[in-house]
Amino acid sequence: MKKDLRIAVIPGDGTGPEVTRQAVKVLQAACGKHGIRLSLQEYDFGGERYQRSGELLPDSALEELRSFDAILLGAIGHPDVKPGILEKGILLRLRFELDQYINLRPVKLYPGVWTPLKEKGPEHVDYVVVRENTGGLYSGVGGVSMRGTAQEMAIQSMVYSRFQVERCLRYAFEYCRRRNRSKTLTLVGKTNVLTFVYDLWERAFHEIGEAAYPDIKRDYCHVDAFCMWAVKNPEWFDVVVTGNMFGDIITDLGAITQGGMGIAAGGNINPEGVSMFEPIGGSAPKYTGKNVINPLAAICAAMMMLEHLGAGKAAADIEGAVMFVTGHRLKSLAAGRMGYSTDEVGDMVARFAVEGPPRE
Ligand code: IPM
Ligand code: MN
Repeated sequence: MKKDLRIAVIPGDGTGPEVTRQAVKVLQAACGKHGIRLSLQEYDFGGERYQRSGELLPDSALEELRSFDAILLGAIGHPDVKPGILEKGILLRLRFELDQYINLRPVKLYPGVWTPLKEKGPEHVDYVVVRENTGGLYSGVGGVSMRGTAQEMAIQSMVYSRFQVERCLRYAFEYCRRRNRSKTLTLVGKTNVLTFVYDLWERAFHEIGEAAYPDIKRDYCHVDAFCMWAVKNPEWFDVVVTGNMFGDIITDLGAITQGGMGIAAGGNINPEGVSMFEPIGGSAPKYTGKNVINPLAAICAAMMMLEHLGAGKAAADIEGAVMFVTGHRLKSLAAGRMGYSTDEVGDMVARFAVEGPPRE
């Protein structure tokens, strides 16, 4: 692997900067231990900059971002900016322009973490969602006419090309093979109603699976049924693949089963380009600057980034430290109820990532 990593850091809005600071601290500690040199370059995109200058994501910056090994993102979203502007202008634009066509979201319950699933523990909740990240209902295809009148009509189309579906499915099959658990890939769709789009997904799924991945078991769930099974029998799932909108929805469901937004992280991945890692939660404006927000999701995003960049050992050290902290230190993952401050959680994870967790 590369021993020099150039990372762009976008702390963003609200609590984004404070959690990103902890993620960077942990990153530096783990990289230091493994002889990886890190160079970090910070960008101030977000609500504040937008309000100051009207600028969201300048084209020149987008070009610069293409030259990094990866991007670490805090959170985008500001209470004084109309919903949609920052999300579309920054987050979605980055995903689309950098062609990060996979959104990889592990749903893993760590030791000691409270889950709303009765009688389920870490041995039951451990699967990964591969969410297609550039198409579907997010394509922006549609329009509105006669807006504001009684005849108003609005259309927003679920658009998928065979190309988009195929590259996502191939990634999911490969990922499932590499993960090497029960080697089961579950397609989540809605073939009984969305008979064009999810029929395309289903045919491509079986064709590719049969031709190139005979070692991977293929399974299918309608998205509504998946929501039930993910609550009742999460242990059934290994790797799950789905379109953009369903992936967005089921990963929030998944996130709460692993303890919520304090811990859930994801990667926006372009396997041939620059990928971007982020905590799934938002900017949590009401906690900004209070040093009470949980930084573990941002830390887990940094861990996924290292894993993606081939620094598996450094990533494993971080995960071991996170698991020790959830299992033996934190009272809760909720902001203000951890029993520690944001900084202290970052310090503990950084220390245990380097020294190894204490024997307790
Ligand atoms: C997510 C978020 C985004 C999405 C929003 C903020 C645009 O919900 O990353 O899941 O819908 O993808
Ligand atoms: Mn979402």
